[in-house]
Amino acid sequence: MTAVRALELAVRKDGFTVLIGPSGCGKTTILRILAGLDEDFTGNVPRVDEQRIGVVFQEPRLLPWRIVRDNIMLTADAEFGNAELNALAEELGIISTLDRFPGELSLGLARRVAIARAFAAAPDMLLLDEPFVSLDNPTAERLRRLLVRVWSARRITTIMVTHNLREAIQLSDRIVVLTQGPARVRAIIDIPTNQKDRNEEEIERLHGELMHTYPNAF
Ligand SMILES: Nc1ncnc2c1ncn2[C@@H]1O[C@H](COP(=O)(O)OP(=O)(O)OP(=O)(O)O)[C@@H](O)[C@H]1O
Ligand SMILES: [Mg+2]
Repeated sequence: MTAVRALELAVRKDGFTVLIGPSGCGKTTILRILAGLDEDFTGNVPRVDEQRIGVVFQEPRLLPWRIVRDNIMLTADAEFGNAELNALAEELGIISTLDRFPGELSLGLARRVAIARAFAAAPDMLLLDEPFVSLDNPTAERLRRLLVRVWSARRITTIMVTHNLREAIQLSDRIVVLTQGPARVRAIIDIPTNQKDRNEEEIERLHGELMHTYPNAF
């Protein structure tokens, strides 16, 4: 079966790109291809040598036989020690889970652990597949801000899949709108303002504009 067809996607090395498109159109497949996990495709994915890729999957995919601390530290960067772990765990609200097994966690907590694991690895490219669904709003909002901070500080190439147009506008500098599957690019929208300057009002304005310009796309 073809999940993606004739997809040409350019992302800036230091950019934050969001892929948005209908359910089943092939977004996860695209991320899997970019991550090198799906090799059953024809085409070309340019790679930088030794580029390290961090992935936050739709399901957390933690090692069930390892406690949370080990799940995060196993793939952590050499510079990421205990102090960094505690600071990040504090920020993500998962301090109390560090010595527990993934099977004891709610989905929301497990998701945050998966995000911590990806950040701790200090990747050059970060791929996120709907990382904030199933989290309550305040938590999701905190994590979005944290993601932006991590991205702005290190300028890693970030590609995130979401269904949420407001979230896309809030976080990204480029939105790639995909068609119904097999996914093709329907539109590429570069958000003109600086990420930091996008307040509620600006997000609302862009949201209205995009809904009007691309009816039925979101
Ligand atoms: N392992 C698989 N075997 C067969 N078909 C698959 C497999 N994985 C995905 N598909 C199909 O490929 C298409 C694209 O799937 P994909 O998971 O990439 O979509 P998606 O855009 O991520 O969807 P969602 O928004 O629901 O997460 C779908 O039609 C899906 O049913
Ligand atoms: Mg998916």
